[in-house]
Amino acid sequence: MLEVQSLTKMFGEKAAVDAASFTVDRPMMIGIIGRSGAGKSTLLRMLNRLSDATTGAIRFEGRDITLLKGADRREWQSRCAMIFQQFNLVPRMDVVSNVLHGTLNRRSTLATMFNLYPQADIHKAIEILDRLGIAEQAPKRAEALSGGQQQRVAIARALMQDPAVILADEPIASLDPMNAQIVMEALRRIHEEDGRMVIANLHTLDTARRYCDRVIGMRDGRIVFDGTPQQLTTGVARDIYGAGADFSEAATSTEIETLDRTGPRAAVPA
Ligand SMILES: Nc1ncnc2c1ncn2[C@@H]1O[C@H](COP(=O)(O)OP(=O)(O)O)[C@@H](O)[C@H]1O
Ligand SMILES: [Mg+2]
Repeated sequence: MLEVQSLTKMFGEKAAVDAASFTVDRPMMIGIIGRSGAGKSTLLRMLNRLSDATTGAIRFEGRDITLLKGADRREWQSRCAMIFQQFNLVPRMDVVSNVLHGTLNRRSTLATMFNLYPQADIHKAIEILDRLGIAEQAPKRAEALSGGQQQRVAIARALMQDPAVILADEPIASLDPMNAQIVMEALRRIHEEDGRMVIANLHTLDTARRYCDRVIGMRDGRIVFDGTPQQLTTGVARDIYGAGADFSEAATSTEIETLDRTGPRAAVPA
């Protein structure tokens, strides 16, 4: 259903993503791992058409996504929802309105201007919030919620679009261990119960191992591993994360976590 073929993104002379190819034939939950700068975000942004590929193709159900323009491109972006590390909510707006923003693509300018939402959409928003365990937060301002709750609001906003694919760029990198677990479990459940494809950039190996059916490892823009969590041995991990780090089996997760950490970030469960 998804076929990425020799996808490349150049920034000047540098290939941020270098001839990446992979095929997904059913709605899996896929984790993309690799050091900071490996090209994970650029890959997701191309899939969502937030960023244009330099060369290569992305086919979803046979259609080349890289060629879509205007309304077709926006329609693809609503079928392929994106979740970010920093949630990207409107902080001062209430939770329900943030979730209803997920329907913007299909609303008229006038309705948007006057903040008019169909009753059915409001019901749907509350239902989705309820499913994610945060219905009681609906009237609060987004900024009043904890990080984990905000990320669930962002997931609810994505679900409003009824997406076939959910792309999550480091969805738990700013969360404490407990909230990280809640968010990963929510994504997993959405994948299993709704049959949606989930592709998540993850900065810890253990999270990818625990929640994903398949793991793609990137290094310097290239895909250097594509397999099951079971196939992701310490040797393979060393290859993905490079740096000549000498991981012992026991130290693997902590060391890799440290290697991939770009700046100050909350700890994520091992
Ligand atoms: N807008 C941009 N302009 C120039 N270089 C960029 C831009 N975005 C990303 N890069 C570069 O592309 C490479 C991959 O970045 P990125 O996709 O953000 O990696 P990751 O998400 O794995 O940390 C990095 O070397 C980064 O500096
Ligand atoms: Mg990134």
